[in-house]
Formats: sequence, structure tokens, C-alpha cells
Amino acid sequence: MNAKSTNQKSLNTVWQVMSISRDERERLQGHRSFLVWFTGLSGSGKSTIIYAVEERLYKLGYRTFALDGDNVRHGLCADLGFSQGDRIENIRRVGEVAKLLTQAGVIVLAAFISPFRADRQKVRNLMEAGDFIEVYCHCPLEICEARDVKGLYKKARAGEVRDFTGISSPYEEPSHPDLVLHTGEDSVERCTELVMEKIKSRLQVAGMGKADLADF
Ligand code: ADX
Repeated sequence: MNAKSTNQKSLNTVWQVMSISRDERERLQGHRSFLVWFTGLSGSGKSTIIYAVEERLYKLGYRTFALDGDNVRHGLCADLGFSQGDRIENIRRVGEVAKLLTQAGVIVLAAFISPFRADRQKVRNLMEAGDFIEVYCHCPLEICEARDVKGLYKKARAGEVRDFTGISSPYEEPSHPDLVLHTGEDSVERCTELVMEKIKSRLQVAGMGKADLADF
């Protein structure tokens, strides 16, 4: 596999073939890996659901890792803000990290507003076929704003936070998501259940899940 991206500056590098393949890593742990990508407005419940799903998978013996916009922006993407260019770079970096983690055999649960369709598509293209499951956390802006868990909508309305998604920066809904969660109406439990069903069917198609998939 050639790992070079199209805008690579370091030309004098040679791709090293890994001695242990992804397939071998997956067999050792007993399950396939893939990326479940959650997109939606701030306050739509993305993080809540990825952590609930992760807990369920962890208890069933699956290797998982959650990537969350707020956390990643404390380290890997601490140099990025919320301009369109910075969001594009945020999603690009996270996509590359998610790819590395899936190559390591981990089921990745990513929660990012990721407001631009083209950027989500780029992450999909980065992954192998079927390894990108797009979950749209659909929640009306009014509900996210009424919840305002972090107090950011209030600040955005007051002009204290710039480029705020849904208020002063756009959000492009997915045109063909693999799953839509109605996080404004359905409970966390119900949404978690729907994601677990999706993951189960992915594991069935990929042909390797731990022990008894009926446990799901
Ligand atoms: S993304 O647009 O680049 O995908 P990301 O998911 O990493 O965004 O980060 C979103 C989180 O950053 C929100 O949940 C919110 O807590 C915080 N945040 C701070 N400023 C903004 C802003 N201007 N727009 C959206 N989210 C913001």
C-alpha cells in the first residue's frame, strides 16, 4: 500500500511494509476493526453516545478508542481554531489518526461536528471499503441551543464566540449517512442500541466478531 497523500512535502521517504499485518492483529484479538464517525451539531449528543457505545463494547471484550473533538483540540489539534481552514485540517488529522488506529486493529468511535460534507467524504476515502460508518446525530438547532450544556450557544448569540456552527458557521447534513440517530427525541439508551446493531451487522459482514454476537 502506498501511504503518500497528495500534498505530501517530504518526497524522499520510502514506505515501509509492516511486518505484522492488520489482518494478523485482528485475528490475535478476535475481531475486525473499523471507524464509526459521528457528525452533528455541538450539543447533539455525539460524545455521550460514543462513550456509551464504547462502554458496551469494552465490556464485551472489544478493543476500542474514542476520539472526541473537545479532547483532540487539547493536544493533537491545539493549534487549530474554528475557521473553515482549521476545521478542514482538524478533520484531516483526525482521519489519519483514525486510520492508524484501525490499522492497529482498534474499533474507532469518532465524535466531531465535522460540518463539511467534503471533509467527511475525504475520511471515508482514506479508509478501506466498508470501514467508514457515518452516523448522523440529527438534533434540531433549537434543542441543542436549549440544552446548551457548555454555555457556548449563549456566548455565540452574544457574539463572544465566533464562527459557531449552526449560528455563524454552516453545517452540511450528510446526504447518505449509514445511520441517523434522532438525538433530540430518542433516549441515549435507544441511540446506543441502534449503533450497537449497526456495529453488529458490520462485524457480521466483516466476518469476525468476538465470541457470541448474540451478546450484543
Ligand atoms: S469541528 O467543526 O472541527 O469538527 P470539533 O468537533 O473538533 O469541531 O469541536 C467542536 C467542539 O468545540 C464543540 O463541541 C464545542 O464544545 C467547541 N467549540 C468551541 N468553539 C466552537 C465553534 N466556534 N464552533 C463549534 N464548536 C466550538
